[in-house]
Amino acid sequence: MDITVRAHAKLNLTLDVVRRREDGYHDMKMVMQSVSLDDRIRITTGTGERDRVRSNLTFLPTDERNLALRAARLYCEASGADPGGLLIQMQKQIPVCAGMGGGSADAAAVMLAMHSLYPRDGLGLEELCALGETLGSDVPFCIRGGTALAEGRGERLTPLRPLPDCRFVICKPPFSVSTPALFGKLRCQKIRHRPDTEGVLAAIERGDLADIARHMYNVFEPLVAAEHREVREIQQSLISAGALGACMSGTGPTVFGLFDDTAAAEAAAKELKASYSAVFVASPL
Ligand code: C5P
Repeated sequence: MDITVRAHAKLNLTLDVVRRREDGYHDMKMVMQSVSLDDRIRITTGTGERDRVRSNLTFLPTDERNLALRAARLYCEASGADPGGLLIQMQKQIPVCAGMGGGSADAAAVMLAMHSLYPRDGLGLEELCALGETLGSDVPFCIRGGTALAEGRGERLTPLRPLPDCRFVICKPPFSVSTPALFGKLRCQKIRHRPDTEGVLAAIERGDLADIARHMYNVFEPLVAAEHREVREIQQSLISAGALGACMSGTGPTVFGLFDDTAAAEAAAKELKASYSAVFVASPL
């Protein structure tokens, strides 16, 4: 059997770190948005061989370190499904280690695909999210998608009203940031500037795009921008090109701008492409 699914990237409209927990993780408060930028994943079952992963990115692990393969195996363990050998073929577009939840999106899409191939009583979305959480903090959001407030490690989700039609211009500068290292650097008590999450929630409820954009903020942004001038440069470029707001996503280094005008978004992307190779225009989902 063969199934092809799309794994959608996420952006953080806001990201706040509330406190460090006893278990080493942090309690978060984030407004998350899934977007049209995606990876395509084709799953073939019954190959009669050992499970395999293929990808257009040669540096991605194809063994147990691959989140998509781990997600498939986890679903099989939980459901008792026996696919008789899996081939997972990944066409990745979402930049890797970029703050856009690419690995989590792939894991979520694979779990949903396995669920549609091998449905089981008592194994619904809620259970998939609980399984997904063991793979990564953003997996439950990627399973649900849309617009949501994420709290706890990221697994406590409150669905929000969909955003008004708009465009995101997304730019990943050519370096990566280690998520655990960045969390390690952050001193929660010393965070001087935090996002106005309530303000964003109210703006989303009103469907007020300009106000959503004005309130977008990520507490990791100054830490990454202090070491990499590209973060501020991309923000400036997006704002000069007409973005209503521009912000870093996740632990970075991806920066995105929010536009209410498609032509302005396309023009902003064209300008950034002169300096950066990973530039995308996407819509909210
Ligand atoms: O859950 P995930 O594997 O995505 O997390 C990667 C790392 O990010 C964790 O090992 C931890 O250092 C940090 N993290 C955190 N608090 C969260 C999510 C992630 O400290 N809520």
